[in-house]
Amino acid sequence: MKKIPIIFLAVLIQAIAFGCLVALVWLLPLLIEPPYNPLFLSLIMGLMATLFSYLIKLPKWWLWLQLFFPIIAYLVIREELNPLYGLLIFVLLLLIFSNSFVNRVPLYLTNTKTRLALSKLIKDLSEVNFIDLGSGLGGNVVYMFKQPQVKTSVGVETAPLPYLLSKINCFLNGGEIYAEDLWTTSLQNFNLVYVFLSPQPMPKLWQKIVVEMDKDSVLVSNSFSIPGVTPSEIWELSDRRKTNLYIYYLKDFKK
Ligand SMILES: C[S@@+](CC[C@H](N)C(=O)[O-])C[C@H]1O[C@@H](n2cnc3c(N)ncnc32)[C@H](O)[C@@H]1O
Repeated sequence: MKKIPIIFLAVLIQAIAFGCLVALVWLLPLLIEPPYNPLFLSLIMGLMATLFSYLIKLPKWWLWLQLFFPIIAYLVIREELNPLYGLLIFVLLLLIFSNSFVNRVPLYLTNTKTRLALSKLIKDLSEVNFIDLGSGLGGNVVYMFKQPQVKTSVGVETAPLPYLLSKINCFLNGGEIYAEDLWTTSLQNFNLVYVFLSPQPMPKLWQKIVVEMDKDSVLVSNSFSIPGVTPSEIWELSDRRKTNLYIYYLKDFKK
């Protein structure tokens, strides 16, 4: 079954939470005399939406959105803010997070400890052609570009604003960024592929990897392993979030 995009689930949950709030306000006079503070009611709605989102296991950062959405919506209405501000914020979020809505891959960034681990991984290699599939703001591409063993450092990114910022970043600091969908990007010219995506695309990604990558190449996945495929190595990093790097040497998987 095709998975429902998170944005639809989130909106549906807000609608259900609103329905519950209406029922609550209808029953509440039996216990507490009205009127009720609207800010307090919007907080209750936010808490219900957060609980429902938690129960259906929406990603953690969506729980915060679900909590604050009714409160912000109430404040916007109360202060009679120009709805264009809302539209502007929505468009901005869409330009940054469009891939969260469609591909279930939000934007979060690789940290310095992970980048150091990548440079350790390649330290004995003589020629590295690196690609970051879903390259965010281009930080990894620039970092890898500066490693002496790296011959090419490339990123592909489809979210408009991260693409634009990473293009500027690479223009100033090195590396190449393309506005290209990772699913249509050929991996044949790369011997080090890096991904930091989400659990959702990993099975499909593996099918692409085994077809397109050479035997002597490596896939590194930050935080998300490939279901049913035992990685060649797992590096647990000593950063705050105890990042796991799942390393797949293609020679272990291709005859
Ligand atoms: C978790 S972020 C990682 C960013 C960067 N690789 C890093 O590690 O700092 C994932 C990125 O993949 C991008 N992305 C998701 N699906 C994509 C697709 N089909 N093609 C290209 N980029 C995609 C998202 O827009 C997001 O910027």
